[in-house]
Amino acid sequence: MKAETRSRLMRAGAGIAIAAILFAVLVILDPSGLYLWLKALHVIAAISWMAGMLYLPRLFVYHCDAEVASKRSETFKVMERRLLVAIINPAMIATWVLGLWLAYDAGFWRSGWFQAKIVLVLALSGVHGLFSRWVRDFAADRNTRPQRFYRMVNEIPTVLMIGIVILVVVKPF
Ligand code: HEM
Repeated sequence: MKAETRSRLMRAGAGIAIAAILFAVLVILDPSGLYLWLKALHVIAAISWMAGMLYLPRLFVYHCDAEVASKRSETFKVMERRLLVAIINPAMIATWVLGLWLAYDAGFWRSGWFQAKIVLVLALSGVHGLFSRWVRDFAADRNTRPQRFYRMVNEIPTVLMIGIVILVVVKPF
């Protein structure tokens, strides 16, 4: 195994261990105000997830213009991979874990707004999966979709985000 891969795995392992210890301490101590702290962290994670989900399709749009194997195209590949691996993936995991924790704590399972929110968040997670596949396609120089396609796709996370935020803040049903 390469030294760089080993060091990345060790850092990821250390991060997971620290998160697990913090999680255990919070569950055991259950300090007052914990719910609001978790909600704040959940919103921070959701903002980070959305920032990546709104920016990545813009990179796809510009990437379509770059000639295969050009320096510009190789730069886009690095930007797309880093955005996905370093921001979008961990932010999505944190949003899900914290969101489910909040729902469990407050007992929102039967609320209509919560169920509708979950449907929209599942759709957002599906779009996330497609974005991951397209990052791999661009990395292997096998993208065949036109720029117009990515311009349209760019709007999907925005529409889902508007629905999700209205449901959780207004709780209309
Ligand atoms: C990944 C699955 C998700 C789950 C299970 C989930 C669940 C929850 C729960 C249970 C709350 C607490 C609601 C309350 O205390 O009234 C909450 C708050 C919130 N969530 Fe999510 N959420 C998820 C994803 C998202 C996403 C993707 C966004 C944004 C695009 C988002 C935005 C918010 C906001 C803004 C609040 C604060 C609402 C308020 O206090 O008025 N959530 N979420």
